[in-house]
Amino acid sequence: MVIGYCVGEISLSELTFISDKMPQVGEYVTVEYDDKKVLGMVESLVRGNDALNLDLHDIEAIQTISRIGGSDYYIKGKVKLLGDVDDNLRLPRTPAIPGTPIKMADGEILRNVFNVKNPLKIGTLVNQSDIEVNVEANPILNRHLAILAMTGAGKSNTVAVIIDQLLRYNVPVFVFDMHGEYKDAEFPNGEVNIISPKINPIYMSFNEIRKLVNIPNNAYIQERHFRWAFNKANNLISDGKGSKHKFLGLIQKILHDKSQEEGSDKQIIDVLNKIDDAMLKYNNLFDTNKSNILTSIKIGQVNVLDLSQSDEYVSEVLVSHIMRNSLQMRKNAVHGNDYDNSLEHPVFYIIEEAHILAPNKRDSSSKYWIQRVAREGRKFGLGLCLVSQSPKTVDHDALSQMNNMIILRLVEPEDQRHVQSASESLSKDLIDQLPSLNVGEAIVLGLMTKIPTLVKINEFKGRRTGGDLDIIGDLADYDKNEEEELRSQEEELMGLGYDY
Ligand SMILES: Nc1ncnc2c1ncn2[C@@H]1O[C@H](COP(=O)(O)OP(=O)(O)O)[C@@H](O)[C@H]1O
Ligand SMILES: [Mg+2]
Repeated sequence: MVIGYCVGEISLSELTFISDKMPQVGEYVTVEYDDKKVLGMVESLVRGNDALNLDLHDIEAIQTISRIGGSDYYIKGKVKLLGDVDDNLRLPRTPAIPGTPIKMADGEILRNVFNVKNPLKIGTLVNQSDIEVNVEANPILNRHLAILAMTGAGKSNTVAVIIDQLLRYNVPVFVFDMHGEYKDAEFPNGEVNIISPKINPIYMSFNEIRKLVNIPNNAYIQERHFRWAFNKANNLISDGKGSKHKFLGLIQKILHDKSQEEGSDKQIIDVLNKIDDAMLKYNNLFDTNKSNILTSIKIGQVNVLDLSQSDEYVSEVLVSHIMRNSLQMRKNAVHGNDYDNSLEHPVFYIIEEAHILAPNKRDSSSKYWIQRVAREGRKFGLGLCLVSQSPKTVDHDALSQMNNMIILRLVEPEDQRHVQSASESLSKDLIDQLPSLNVGEAIVLGLMTKIPTLVKINEFKGRRTGGDLDIIGDLADYDKNEEEELRSQEEELMGLGYDY
């Protein structure tokens, strides 16, 4: 079906057309010239009327013209050219000829385009629900993915769909579950493996723990005391003598004993105070009986690290610890070093709230290690998926390493600019579509797809929590539950003591 004709000057990447039918933005068209059939996507549309142009200022004239000729409008649109259908979607070397008809693309051409190797079925075309959209798995696992949108636009649903599709290929997925949305989830294609947010301190470097305790680089005497106690605590744990204590508590006891023996030393007291502070923040993080967190990852399952009870500090430590160890252990595996300390399989990491864990304007250890994995992960089979409702506050460096993007509804101009500057394939015209997307509709672009696509993401078929709350329903039972609730809160408060 012809939907319009090329007009004006036509470039190799873009053409303007005039039509009397209203196509839809995101629809695919073809133009045939010089024995080529070139696929394109309608990127923008305007409607105009020559008789009602901007030079007309007389209201009565406008009323009269619109009465007699108001329906004589034209439709002008822009098509982004995507490539020659018969030449692997390479862009042709000659531009189309003005006057060439523009046709709707055949379903068969589109089905061919979305017929990819190792497909992940993520949805259907927004404008043509009979055409399934598949993206390719390997480019996502190798070259990362960003899922960006305002709250409620469908990010978590998209994450769940992608996880489930990856499970079909036995990919070990690892979710940093900031809101406890995945721990009770059910995936049609694989089990959920809950990993508790605990680190055995023997797998932490001295410097990681020194930073937690807030002993600066140049505090040599404090560092000396702390290092001595740290080593002693590690030895006790290795000998099986320290495990009844929490790690920082053990260090504290060692230093406390030392200060008792040697008379109170101001530097030691300072360190003890710092450990006190750190224990308030981090003590639940350590478990001296736990094996290396990465060895609990199961292949073909969704490995969920439940961070819903952890505060930001703890999440940051866990993320950086896991990113750092993954890089090291995958390097060892790839290079055949240190068999005991290597990770024999790739991992795909999903980081929700990426703007907290890799913030744009603030340095943090989690951001540093996320950047490292974003840059180097490809060589070692470590993939990242950054998810955020505040793209403008996600680190630009990390974001620009995400060579695949799924962008759902996004209204704020600064968010849009930040995303555009991090992605070369996102045109201004596509950006302009972002505010008008409905829930679950997304622009999908990057290496995982041959062409940028407007997709209605499938609704996740399994079970997950974290959609909108039924507030009214929850409050309906309030009176009945109130007393019981108060009692359990009291008990919780009483149980907040530390054992060391
Ligand atoms: N593709 C979709 N199809 C149908 N419903 C969807 C889709 N995406 C999201 N929803 C619904 O919209 C609500 C918000 O989606 P969610 O993924 O939790 O948003 P976000 O994580 O971006 O805040 C959920 O209740 C979900 O069921
Ligand atoms: Mg969400």
